[in-house]
Amino acid sequence: MAKIAIVGAGAIGGVVAALLQTAGRHELVLCVRRPIRQLAVSQPEGELRIDATVLTRPEEAGPVDWVMIATKAYDAEAAARWLDGLCSAGAPVAILQNGVEHRERFAPYIAKDQIVPVIVDCPAERMPSQDGVDRIAQRGPISLKVPDSTHGREFVALFAGTAADAAAVSDWTTVAWKKLCHNAVGALPALLLQPAGVLRGEAIGEVALDMVRECIAVGRAEGAVLSDSFAEEVLAASRRSAPDSINSLHADRLAGRPMETAARNGAIVRKGRAHGIPTPANAMAVALLDALTAK
Ligand SMILES: NC(=O)c1ccc[n+]([C@@H]2O[C@H](COP(=O)([O-])OP(=O)(O)OC[C@H]3O[C@@H](n4cnc5c(N)ncnc54)[C@H](OP(=O)(O)O)[C@@H]3O)[C@@H](O)[C@H]2O)c1
Repeated sequence: MAKIAIVGAGAIGGVVAALLQTAGRHELVLCVRRPIRQLAVSQPEGELRIDATVLTRPEEAGPVDWVMIATKAYDAEAAARWLDGLCSAGAPVAILQNGVEHRERFAPYIAKDQIVPVIVDCPAERMPSQDGVDRIAQRGPISLKVPDSTHGREFVALFAGTAADAAAVSDWTTVAWKKLCHNAVGALPALLLQPAGVLRGEAIGEVALDMVRECIAVGRAEGAVLSDSFAEEVLAASRRSAPDSINSLHADRLAGRPMETAARNGAIVRKGRAHGIPTPANAMAVALLDALTAK
């Protein structure tokens, strides 16, 4: 049994809360920035109402056994305000966010050895709230990959007996960069304001391949094992996705929210620069998305 705080009760925070509740042995605390009366998660198995203490102010937070941060990467600084109270007894902090810089992002706020970076794969989205109930829709299975460390294995154990494919992997760096390769091409539909089907065009496909090849080159310099043919695999996977599907950068842009550009294509550019690897396609995507945000 563990007392687990989830910071950010959006799509991934909600799905993770539902999983941990089905484990049947944990006490849950939801740390949110606006009050919620009830959180409900529709899973492939049916709807689950979350039974948790809800906190809205970081000053209310006391020590827990585990913290899971499930905000967008651009909300890291505000999310970190919860950590003083929640980690006052030394709780490890799992960062369930996209990108490859989980440790760097939270290093200003917490000791690096307390941080467990998590690569999440799961199609999930927030639905409009109805009758005072905040709803999350989980559209498919969830996979959670952490480094094979003591805290990583403890994290996996929290999900024992649930439907999550939670695993500690020996080469987390490769898992993270593979996910970033997939995320890199998401900038194109977000820029064009067209759903995933736009990647089926020949010329756009070539640009997508350039973006993934840059990500592969930088990922290799960071220690990831990525084959040349992975670029074609990523494009083929993007083209297999439903042509009307909308990725999260695109969804954030449509909703007028900030976008995770810095954590995704921005990370490729920054780390490329550090290794002396040119990343012009990703740099252009970042410049255009940033200009749109500034506008
Ligand atoms: N959704 C997916 O299918 C998916 C799949 C794989 C990976 N991911 C990654 O998982 C991460 C989380 O994404 P998501 O889709 O779950 O985002 P989301 O649905 O936008 O949820 C983020 C939640 O964090 C809350 N929040 C922001 N700042 C906060 C703070 N200071 N204190 C408490 N709560 C705060 C937001 O509150 P409000 O409700 O007030 O906005 C929102 O409920 C991202 O890095 C994303 O790229 C998502």
